[in-house]
Amino acid sequence: MENDKSKRNLISLPKIEDRRGNLSVIEKDIIPFEIKRVYYVYDIPSGSERGGHSHKNLQEFLVALSGSFEVVLNDGKEKQIITLNKPYEGLLINSGIWRELQNFSSGAVCLVVASDVYIEDDYIRDFDEFINSKKATDK
Ligand code: TYD
Repeated sequence: MENDKSKRNLISLPKIEDRRGNLSVIEKDIIPFEIKRVYYVYDIPSGSERGGHSHKNLQEFLVALSGSFEVVLNDGKEKQIITLNKPYEGLLINSGIWRELQNFSSGAVCLVVASDVYIEDDYIRDFDEFINSKKATDK
């Protein structure tokens, strides 16, 4: 369900419109962390799902550079589904949030801007472990 809470994490990017084609930019001050890594997911077969993990510390910012997809967010209490379909809007995902990416359109490209380099130890890939980690921090 898209609600106000999820919309607060949607950030509009500057869009410089031009008859030659539009231009958007992600830079310092637009997202609330220092950019350490950028990666992108593409050539996604129909019906594929990605994600299925949370991060202990990493923050990420996702943009549908092309096409569309849904991001299912779970903070351990509530589940939200956010559709990304604009190259001039991104979703901020804080640490401690389980995310799944699904329903990719044909030709979708997911850009991810991250607050750190790749560290496998920062991942929680087991959903029960994620729920237990949230219960432990709630105490
Ligand atoms: P993963 O983060 O699980 O992908 P997604 O969340 O999109 O499903 O990463 C998939 C694989 O790619 C995994 O084996 C780790 C590797 N990987 C890197 O080597 N470097 C990276 O920066 C990322 C994001 C993943």
